[in-house]
Amino acid sequence: MVPFNSGSPQAEAAVSLFNVVFLISLLIFVIVAGGVIFSAIRFRQRPGEGDPPQIEGNRWLEVTWVVVPLFLLGFVSVLTLQKLDLIKPPAPPDPQPDLIVTGYQWWWDVEYPQAGVITANEIHIPTGQRVLLRLKGGDVIHSFWVPELGGKADMVPGHPVYLWLEASQPGTYNGACTEFCGNQHAWMRLRVVAQTPEAYQAWLAAQAKNPPAPTSGAAAQGAQFFQQSTCVNCHAIRGTAAKARVGPDLTHLASRETLAAGVLTNTSDHLAQWLKDPQAVKPGNHMPAFGLSNDQIQQLVAYLETLK
Ligand code: CUA
Repeated sequence: MVPFNSGSPQAEAAVSLFNVVFLISLLIFVIVAGGVIFSAIRFRQRPGEGDPPQIEGNRWLEVTWVVVPLFLLGFVSVLTLQKLDLIKPPAPPDPQPDLIVTGYQWWWDVEYPQAGVITANEIHIPTGQRVLLRLKGGDVIHSFWVPELGGKADMVPGHPVYLWLEASQPGTYNGACTEFCGNQHAWMRLRVVAQTPEAYQAWLAAQAKNPPAPTSGAAAQGAQFFQQSTCVNCHAIRGTAAKARVGPDLTHLASRETLAAGVLTNTSDHLAQWLKDPQAVKPGNHMPAFGLSNDQIQQLVAYLETLK
């Protein structure tokens, strides 16, 4: 009986616990509701009958309804403690995380400290391995949740928390922010891409490289325009002078599946649409429309598309 998909041992622990508690609750419901219905029918007052005799106290019943719940709750507590052991992250003060995820209005900064890789809105992990996440709030309180992979944790500014992330099978698992954090809370989506360890290592190695600087054509013009414009006040592209961490790191933007934390699929048309007026695509986000000309947009798109 598995009503929910569980894609990790941690999620499986929660689902199996849910199933046990659900079955116990169902059994209690059937016994209690059945007893009520049976009594209401069997012992109803029939025409011509007087009032039923009043009774008081029944030691056997009272002991039963104390002992049985006590036993059931104790049983569930023991199961819960066992499962918690599987889910519980290493204790602070300062475990070394494999990944640092920071929630911002309304996107996710994803950092691989050992590899020196920074990306956004997409988390790649190897299958069959526990990855330790440090979760932080960058501005307001956000909450990290990838339902199929279990665990959910609030991201409170100034108070990092830890969470295991693991996927048993390769695939893309959708996640979302689950703490209301402003008007684009619903468009604070997240993807976890689980890959075989080999594919993951290849991905990480590609992300760790600096993208080659375009040398000619619209892409080169776009690169120059990017460096001379306000873009560099917010965004970083590794290997260039752009180092700001206010908005998403764009080093390998073209390798991601979505734009604007899931609002658009990552195509050149959508990128152009975003650059023309980010506020029309995702109202309230912190990137203003800069009134770029069509030529400038086309050059920027040509450049950003090279950031594979
Ligand atoms: Cu971030 Cu809701």
